[in-house]
Amino acid sequence: MANVVVVGAQWGDEGKGKIVDWLSERADVIARFQGGHSAGHTLVIGDKVFKLSLLPSGIVRENKLAVIGNGVVLDPWALFAEIDKLAGQGVRISTENLMIAENTPLILPLHQDLDKLREEAAGKAKIGTTGRGIGPAYEDKVGRRTIRVADLGDEETLDARLDRLLAHHDALRQGLGATPIDRAELKAKLMEVAPKLLPYAQPVWKIMADARKSGKRILFEGAQGSLLDIDFGTYPYVTSSTTMSGAAASGTGMGPGAIGFVLGIVKAYTTRVGEGPFPTELDDADGQRLGERGHEFGTVTGRKRRCGWFDAVLVRQTCAISGVNGIALTKLDVLDGFETLKICTGYQIDGVTYDYLPTAAALQAKVTPVYEEMEGWQESTAGARSWADLPAAAIKYVRRVEELIQCPVALLSTSPERDDTILVTDPFAD
Ligand code: GDP
Ligand code: IMO
Ligand code: MG
Repeated sequence: MANVVVVGAQWGDEGKGKIVDWLSERADVIARFQGGHSAGHTLVIGDKVFKLSLLPSGIVRENKLAVIGNGVVLDPWALFAEIDKLAGQGVRISTENLMIAENTPLILPLHQDLDKLREEAAGKAKIGTTGRGIGPAYEDKVGRRTIRVADLGDEETLDARLDRLLAHHDALRQGLGATPIDRAELKAKLMEVAPKLLPYAQPVWKIMADARKSGKRILFEGAQGSLLDIDFGTYPYVTSSTTMSGAAASGTGMGPGAIGFVLGIVKAYTTRVGEGPFPTELDDADGQRLGERGHEFGTVTGRKRRCGWFDAVLVRQTCAISGVNGIALTKLDVLDGFETLKICTGYQIDGVTYDYLPTAAALQAKVTPVYEEMEGWQESTAGARSWADLPAAAIKYVRRVEELIQCPVALLSTSPERDDTILVTDPFAD
């Protein structure tokens, strides 16, 4: 049985939420495996718009199991705010359809404090984080001093964890000129949320193993994008988790053999939120047009997304690193009406041609994109539901993208709406 991992192949916001929602009809279990609530996944279903940050996009469908894996960093208060918001939109969430790995590390208010304090202290050198505490929470996980979901079940354990965690954070805060943490207040908050959170806690690795044994189809939903990956992204302008497909296994407790098909989500142009290198960024009317037509504003922070032409070099690179079997190409409709389109096919750095983005920051800063021009199309592709509905120039663009990134298109998306999706190859097919 093919399980499918969905990963963003650029800098996030490629349309993962829409595609996961569409694919989840074919899945039994939908699992988030990394990242936290800096993610913002938008689903448009008829006249309803759902914005999800922590919950897997499959949650809006009935009779699906949504799973939050151990690879995620979980802010319990953000989780319950999201559950309440969705309840207001008619989505029923209970321990029947949501399970959270008991070994999931928590994001606490002190992580958000530190995220913001560091960004402020960094001034111009800031990362441009979402301020959600993602980085500091992952630091505490690998620093072996985090509080995990299961720790909330026993006061003695919680006390010991708090002692270790606060010793570290109070020292850091002192260095940053912040007040020490109010231990009693934090403990009270945790004790209050514990009885709400603990009923969702499960040995997710076991649930996943059982699901696999019984032939259930699992859809793994990545957050962020490959170029924000802690190892392979544009470091240090990255998020703090592994956003590559391999994280689906370690972030839920499965062997790598559980991954059947890796679907890379690729926007037909490029966007980025926050700081960091962006070779094809446009600071002109074309960039403005992409942002306006694509409504490129962050779901979580509302920040304007930086926009640029499609960068085939980067997508070929991320598809190789994540072992992408096929892509879902999204937002093709945003390119409607351009006279000419450009695709980046290589880089020039100090007179040398590169067919990949080198790691050294000094080289990345000097990248000049090499462009190939393509004829645009004046017809509308918005809402197209079959290849036959696409103008010849749009098909040519898609084919050229496939050729340059060396990966076929499995799905094509032509509007935010769930059903405006063209299926070419079913990722779940064996
Ligand atoms: P994610 O973080 O990867 O899930 O992506 P976001 O939801 O943050 O951003 C993608 C935005 O584009 C959302 O507002 C979607 O509703 C929208 N979207 C997704 N696919 C398409 C598409 O094919 N065409 C257009 N015009 N919008 C799309
Ligand atoms: P989705 O899942 C786009 C960016 C932030 C910042 C960097 C680090 O919606 O694609 P963090 O708060 O994670 O420490 O921020 O990563 N970033 C995203 N950009 N989409 C996202 O998620 C992002 N999540 C984080 O803007 O540059
Ligand atoms: Mg997003």
